This record gives sequence, C-alpha cells and structure tokens, in this order.
Amino acid sequence: MSQEPIKRFVEHGVEQSPCSPMEPPEARSSSVEQVPEESLVAPLRAFLAEHREYEKVLNVFEQSLLALKQNEWRFNPEISAGLKRFFQFQDESVLAHHRKEEKCLFPFLREKFLATGEHSPSGKPVTPVEVMEDDHLKVGQSTCLVFNLLGLAPRLEDAKSRQVLLEHAFHLGQEIVETMRLHIFKENTVIFPLAQQLISADEWRVIARMIEEI
Ligand SMILES: [Fe+2]
Ligand SMILES: [Fe+2]
Repeated sequence: MSQEPIKRFVEHGVEQSPCSPMEPPEARSSSVEQVPEESLVAPLRAFLAEHREYEKVLNVFEQSLLALKQNEWRFNPEISAGLKRFFQFQDESVLAHHRKEEKCLFPFLREKFLATGEHSPSGKPVTPVEVMEDDHLKVGQSTCLVFNLLGLAPRLEDAKSRQVLLEHAFHLGQEIVETMRLHIFKENTVIFPLAQQLISADEWRVIARMIEEI
C-alpha cells in the first residue's frame, strides 16, 4: 500500500482540504481502495449506519441554523425543535459512537499504522487515528459552546447583544456541520477500508466483543 494517501491525510485531510461549503463531500475523492458495504465486517457496517443517522441530524441542524438567521434571529417552534434534535442526538448517540471508535477500534488501528510506518514523517508520530480523535474533541467542545450560546442569547434584553451571540452560534454551528461531514467522509472512505485491510479476523472478534460490552 502506498504511504502517500496516509501522509496527505495526516497533513491535509483527504485529498482536498480544507473543507469548503462549495465542495460537498460527494465531490471529494479518496485514493484508498474502497470496500463494498456488504463486504465490510459487522462493526464497520454498524458504524456506517450510525454515520447515516448522524448525517440526517446534521442536515436538520444546518437547516435550523439557516432558518434562525432568515427569521432575523428569532426562534420559532420548528427552529427550536430542529436545534433540540441535534443536541439530543449528540448526547444520546454521538458520544457513544465516538467512545466505541476511540476505545474499541482506534487502539488496534493506531498500532497497525505505527507498525507499517503510516504516520507523519517527523516528530511524535501522528497517525490518522489522532486526526480523527482531535475532530471528536473539537466538535464536542464546539457543540457545548453552541448549546450554551443558544440558551443564553434569549435571556439577554439588549437586541444587539443577543444577535451577536446568535451569529457566533450560527458560525460555530456551520463549522460543526462541515467538520463532521468531512470527518464521516474520511472514516467511510479511508479509515474503515484500511481497518478492514489491516485488522485480522481474530482482532475483529475482540473488537466486536469490546463494542458489545462498552
Ligand atoms: Fe469518528
Ligand atoms: Fe464515526
């Protein structure tokens, strides 16, 4: 396997980076050989299904943020419901999804990447696993911040101050959507196909058991 795709991944994300709203995930490409979904091991198929659910919630979140802006920063029941859905899903599903990846899959994958030299060329070795974990952490922090800003803003009496907070929440929310769309694209097209190639059948049995028990 060529190390070039991995080095590009660690240094720049998948081939085209940074992510832009003008460049939807479908327009990006990965040079890692793809594996049909039905041929993936069960834990990876489960992760893909969870990604699909997350993408639906991200779409609703994005639409709700845009509606809030178009409504001149006034909430209505539909906007509030869409935003609430995102934060609920984050608490109920996304945190567990990230925990399963970080505790069960990534430790095995990190070892494989280090053993095969698929990491950054200098300094402390950075593999694609660290890049993914960094996304989880940053998006988790931004999600908390957006939640707090959206909760705080309606309590401010000064309209200008309220708008400043909501505009900040809007931009952070857009960043979350773009970061997670690209993150899911990288996992689906780079991380998971490589995991399928590099991790043995015995190791997958261990991973599946760890996921069940987590
Ligand atoms: Fe992830
Ligand atoms: Fe994921």
